Amino acid sequence: MKSLISISFFILLSAIGYSQSCEIGGSSFSTFQDIQTLLDANACNDCHAQGNTDANWNYDSYASFTKSGECNQPIIIHGNASDSYLYSVITGTDDLCSESAPIHKLSETDLDKIETWINQGAPEFCLPLYPDIKAIFDSNNCQSCHTPASGLWRYDTYQNIRSNPDNSCGEIMTMVVGNAQKSLLYDKINNDNQVMCGEAMNGEFSPLSSLEIAQIRDWINGGAIESVATLPVVLSRFESEERDMSIMLSWTTEIEIGTDNFVIEHSATGRGFEEIAEVQSTGSDGSSSNYTYMHNTPSFGENYYRLKMIDLDGSYNYSNIRLTRLEVETAEMSISPNPARSSERLKVTWYPRKGQDQAYLNILDPNGRNLHKKIIFEGTNYVRLPVLIEGIYFVMIEDYFGGFLLERVVIIN
Ligand code: HEC
Ligand code: HEC
Repeated sequence: MKSLISISFFILLSAIGYSQSCEIGGSSFSTFQDIQTLLDANACNDCHAQGNTDANWNYDSYASFTKSGECNQPIIIHGNASDSYLYSVITGTDDLCSESAPIHKLSETDLDKIETWINQGAPEFCLPLYPDIKAIFDSNNCQSCHTPASGLWRYDTYQNIRSNPDNSCGEIMTMVVGNAQKSLLYDKINNDNQVMCGEAMNGEFSPLSSLEIAQIRDWINGGAIESVATLPVVLSRFESEERDMSIMLSWTTEIEIGTDNFVIEHSATGRGFEEIAEVQSTGSDGSSSNYTYMHNTPSFGENYYRLKMIDLDGSYNYSNIRLTRLEVETAEMSISPNPARSSERLKVTWYPRKGQDQAYLNILDPNGRNLHKKIIFEGTNYVRLPVLIEGIYFVMIEDYFGGFLLERVVIIN
């Protein structure tokens, strides 16, 4: 029987220690500018600034930030940090598309701040609420045609703006909460001269400003929140901690209004979360409440947790992720797939002995010649194999104390 030692990360979710530029209903929120400042402080602009030839992607503007330079995949998924490419890049859980890219790890606190921001919809500006959006439409005369008598889409009440009118646009939804790109409303006003269905609503008589357009986008991406009273639950604390080979989760809500329950999700890799339990909310009167849950069947190695916080109206949002490691006494590694194909992406899981968090991974040919060398981290890593002819190769992990692990990998083509 192996003895287990756990290491947990305790990070506060709330804004403690940060100067954030945006406040809604007494809670602080980050804007894109705060994120730019944070990335600058991490010297990301050494390589990722406009005109820099070291890397394609840059965050000089919100538009360039959200667009992938390299891989043609979205950098962020609004409202879902853990599935966002940016998050896997800065946690080191995913291989970058570019082989030449350096290691992109951020500190736990900075990570937490970016994670919270993405989970809140990654707004460029301070997240607007329904009355702000209504005021934008009113000041642009949208109500001159969108009257109750017109039979057209209406935004005069929150219920109306959230409902789909009978339109001739088939499956296209007027509003897909959390996804402005897929929402006809945003599509019609975003000034890109292309509309999925019908006419653009930002013509000569009602040109919305770029700030107004961005606010409408942020509002939809941020969950189309009605008012301060329907802001999603804010956690002031979420921790995971080892207790005799079980893992105890505990969290405290800061503001909790209309919360129905918390679904606890678990993953052994930080991706592909699965539901393991549900905890009912106790306080819906806006006061703070404490919760605990004991996970009795955690995995060896890494245990990631996140909370899916579900409101009474069925809308939900995610907490940041917590990691507790049940550490093994002897180092271990596993590789998949094996057999693998030339140039394939290998998943290499490495659980080191205590006191180490990085090592070199080497790919060796049958004669012991080193074909590829890369730094890997504790837990799950992705390593792209070089072009190899069929045969037997070795993956060797060499730690900084001279210890090593060797695994045979068969290449088939
Ligand atoms: C030493 C140079 C360097 C530094 C510093 C650096 N990066 Fe990178 N980064 C790269 C290279 C090279 C790539 C490969 C893709 C490319 O060319 O954009 C890359 C890729 C990325 C990508 C994927 C872009 C895409 O289009 O797919 C993101 C996101 C990223 N970096 C974020 C960051 C962040 C955040 C920081 C600061 C913590 C940072 N980088 C620091 C060199 C760097
Ligand atoms: C001159 C009259 C007029 C004005 C002003 C106008 N609209 Fe429209 N709008 C229409 C008509 C007609 C339709 C239905 C045909 C279409 O979709 O092109 C429509 C459709 C829409 C739809 C599609 C709803 C659906 O799902 O069927 C949205 C969203 C919309 N308008 C938003 C706006 C916004 C926001 C403004 C203000 C910036 C605005 N409209 C200003 C006439 C107008």
